[in-house]
Amino acid sequence: MRAVVPGSFDPITNGHVDVIRRARAIFDEVVVAVGANSSKKYLFEPTERLELVRAATADIEGVTADPLTGLLTDFCRAHGADAIVKGARGAVDFDFEVGMARMNHSLTGIETVILPAAAQWSYVSSTLVREIATLGGDATPYVPAVVARRLATRRAHD
Ligand code: PNS
Repeated sequence: MRAVVPGSFDPITNGHVDVIRRARAIFDEVVVAVGANSSKKYLFEPTERLELVRAATADIEGVTADPLTGLLTDFCRAHGADAIVKGARGAVDFDFEVGMARMNHSLTGIETVILPAAAQWSYVSSTLVREIATLGGDATPYVPAVVARRLATRRAHD
């Protein structure tokens, strides 16, 4: 069975990697869909977000990543996915995910598995990581090493 783990990953955090690993423990193959939420403004370009997702998951066998440009349900069909997996840190995330899960199910019948974020990473979000990094703080504990290096490089050039 194959699952798609979608998100905007701006940037990928340790919490995302944990969800991807746990999705891979349930499914034989995981395709990470790196997309964009049209109402958000991003720090990293789509190609860089995809590159960082690939680098951060390179050591997890059975995990690949591709760009998501259209509808998630079309991506799932094109990739032969059996289900979508999303992480939820709490009630706000869960409510949002349930709405999208129901819409995606209505569109094509695909099911969504919602995994509770690991307690260890429940307070970590890409938004807070971006804020810490852009205001000169150290986001190293919350992101894969490749992302921490990239954030440091960006800061050096800003
Ligand atoms: O990191 P995010 O903000 O949770 O990612 C949201 C994303 C990119 C997964 C979501 O916006 C999405 O699925 N976009 C693709 C377009 C789509 O299918 N929209 C309808 C969803 S019901």
